Amino acid sequence: MNLILMGLPGAGKGTQAERIVQEYGLPHISTGDMFRAAIKEGTELGNEAGSYMDAGQLVPDEVTVGIVRERLAKDDCQKGFLLDGFPRTVSQAESLDRLLANLDRRLDAVLHINVDKNQLMERLTGRRICRQCGATYHVTFNPPQEAGVCDKCNGELYQRDDDQEETVKSRLDVNIEQQEPLLNLYEEKGILKTIDGNQDINDVFASVESILGGIK
Ligand code: AP5
Ligand code: MG
Ligand code: ZN
Repeated sequence: MNLILMGLPGAGKGTQAERIVQEYGLPHISTGDMFRAAIKEGTELGNEAGSYMDAGQLVPDEVTVGIVRERLAKDDCQKGFLLDGFPRTVSQAESLDRLLANLDRRLDAVLHINVDKNQLMERLTGRRICRQCGATYHVTFNPPQEAGVCDKCNGELYQRDDDQEETVKSRLDVNIEQQEPLLNLYEEKGILKTIDGNQDINDVFASVESILGGIK
């Protein structure tokens, strides 16, 4: 399956991706995670992406499309992929179309996790992530058994730099503006599947499964 996960910051893309990967074995391609890895390694890509991310802005399309192109060419993507947070602009979507056409592949579905905007600030400012294994928690909605410690690997939990309230505001503004035309584009292609992301995490995943069950 060739899938895209779409949704505003905090909608639950990463959370659902963890489950989809477990159940369907697709490689999880999150442009945000790739940029954060590059920042950690101190590469040139990391330096460039970091300045945009800190400001809650989008990284330029050429840079983002470049890393996705390289990633999709890897062996593990031949059986399918799960894109998370890409494309985020119509221009990125057009680049992806060309990329897939060259590889003789096509998208099966675009899963749009739709959450009321007023929920997103609380989801993002309460998010905690494991430094070791990357698992995502929420201090209220999905707390670890022991505060600050990962259930899965005992790693230390931290807060993402861009989850501060001021940065979240810009991320939401930018993404709300860019998302609408993208949703229309995939609606017109007939592959947009909208999921109610206001439900609890397990129920959102049940909706994902029922859609993917119709594709396999
Ligand atoms: P990225 O890392 O993709 O961030 P984002 O899009 O802002 O999305 P998030 O990762 O914040 O949210 P999510 O939907 O994954 O939610 P999560 O599952 O963690 O991108 C970061 C930056 O990189 C961008 O700002 C940009 O600068 C750059 N970038 C990335 N891609 C780009 C692109 N294509 N083009 C240009 N620039 C790009 O959940 C959030 C919280 O809510 C967690 O605490 C979780 O536990 C909780 N939660 C999840 N589901 C539920 C639920 N159902 N009920 C209650 N709580 C829930
Ligand atoms: Mg994410
Ligand atoms: Zn962990």
